Amino acid sequence: MSFKLVLSLVFLIEFYTFVYTRKLIMSETASINLNGKTLELSVITGTENEKAIDISKLRDQSGYITLDPGFKNTGATKSAITFLDGEKGILKYRGYKIEELAEKSTFLEVAYLLIYGELPSKQVLEKFRSDIKGQMMVHEDMKNFFAGFPSKSHPMGQLSCLVGALSAFYPESLNPNQNEEEEYQTIVNLIGKMPTIVSWIQKKSLGHPVVYPKKDLGYIDNFMNMIFGEVNCDKIFDDAVLDAMRVLLILHADHEQNCSASTVRIVGSSNANLYASISAGINALWGPLHGGANQAVIEMLEDIKKDGGDVEKYLAKAKDKNDPFRLMGFGHRVYKNFDPRAKIIKKAADEVLEKLGVQDPVLDIAKGLEQAALSDQYFIDRKLYPNVDFYSGIIYRALGFNAEMFTVLFALGRLPGWIAQWKEMRDNKEPIGRPRQVYTGEVDREYVDLENR
Ligand code: SDX
Repeated sequence: MSFKLVLSLVFLIEFYTFVYTRKLIMSETASINLNGKTLELSVITGTENEKAIDISKLRDQSGYITLDPGFKNTGATKSAITFLDGEKGILKYRGYKIEELAEKSTFLEVAYLLIYGELPSKQVLEKFRSDIKGQMMVHEDMKNFFAGFPSKSHPMGQLSCLVGALSAFYPESLNPNQNEEEEYQTIVNLIGKMPTIVSWIQKKSLGHPVVYPKKDLGYIDNFMNMIFGEVNCDKIFDDAVLDAMRVLLILHADHEQNCSASTVRIVGSSNANLYASISAGINALWGPLHGGANQAVIEMLEDIKKDGGDVEKYLAKAKDKNDPFRLMGFGHRVYKNFDPRAKIIKKAADEVLEKLGVQDPVLDIAKGLEQAALSDQYFIDRKLYPNVDFYSGIIYRALGFNAEMFTVLFALGRLPGWIAQWKEMRDNKEPIGRPRQVYTGEVDREYVDLENR
């Protein structure tokens, strides 16, 4: 058989295999039988082979809706930003493994990647950096109402207010139909102002005057200088400290459809502006079941230390259904294996504390707790592993932040991810988010006058 004939045969086999498999994937359906009527619902397959049954026409076709409190089995959208495999402990931003980005990238490069989908060229990154630096100053009038916060008010409450207030001070960014350039300006405005606002909040908690951004410093150096400047300059510019912050910000940058990202998307889906949507995300992150866990972990470890460091006692409390105590920093809605971020942060915690010569007894308690939990049947059965919040607070504390600032630092890292999710929802022209419900209340009741009740 001539070579050409073999080649064309191979091509034909390849072609039909390709068409057949794609046809299979495209035509894969799920059948639902309702009251004797069979519905064929199409199955969508993602690029990482995740599968979803498309129920977007279910109610029109059957009058039925689905019910899934906490959306444990429900996809809200299709997204190309972040992929995570909870069973295998895999996390990738736009297809790049988190381990590689944490080792080789910078926070603003990762921010650009998440928001615009590609690693930027040198020129594009330099412009992105300089546009952000040009926006790090915050309108001085914002300090007037910021001054009104009680000094002990929680930093997350202050942060959500200040970010929401940006819509008052930068009204040009409110147009819901911003063009690409206007949207870019709003994005770099927010990324530029966030570290300055965070530094204001930290300074207020200490009763110290604010430090202004400097044009000759980079994003993280500027942030650390605004936070610790005029106090301990040598520490803030220590390579180990700056690198730890770089890694922490990258690791927190996005995590697909978590509680706060979903909040940002649903608020943004009403055409609310970016600042309002991000402010809502900050409030969702505040909860101790979500980003607030990093503060709760340190408070828990401190309690265990004060109580003699008996980790077995606290494991027993975590397993006791009658005890409201939960092992904060453990467990995850999606990861049923190690949270890949926790592994990197645990290693960074050892390195930073050693480099800074910090002896923190709660680190040993955390390691003891992890070791005990990972060999305990209750935790094994429920696939409960340390998550991103378990070790991060130990590093933040070693860097000199107080515990109430930890979730604010989580928000600083998560900002590019929230922006990316908000932008993708708008670019895809997704409809306003408005879930259905199953009504279980009273049916028909007559009004009864007050005197007859
Ligand atoms: C983040 O979603 C994200 O991606 C979030 C995040 C991101 O980057 O955006 O990763 C950041 O929020 C990490 C999670 C931080 N929160 C905590 O560390 C708080 C402690 N963890 C838990 O409250 C809990 O694990 C959640 C909230 C994280 C997940 O809760 P789920 O998925 O609703 O699971 P569940 O509460 O139904 O728990 C399943 C079982 C239950 O036991 P049973 O009823 O089956 O007997 O596991 C138990 C729970 O009681 N369990 C725990 C536990 N977490 C779950 N028991 C003790 N201690 C825990 N921490």
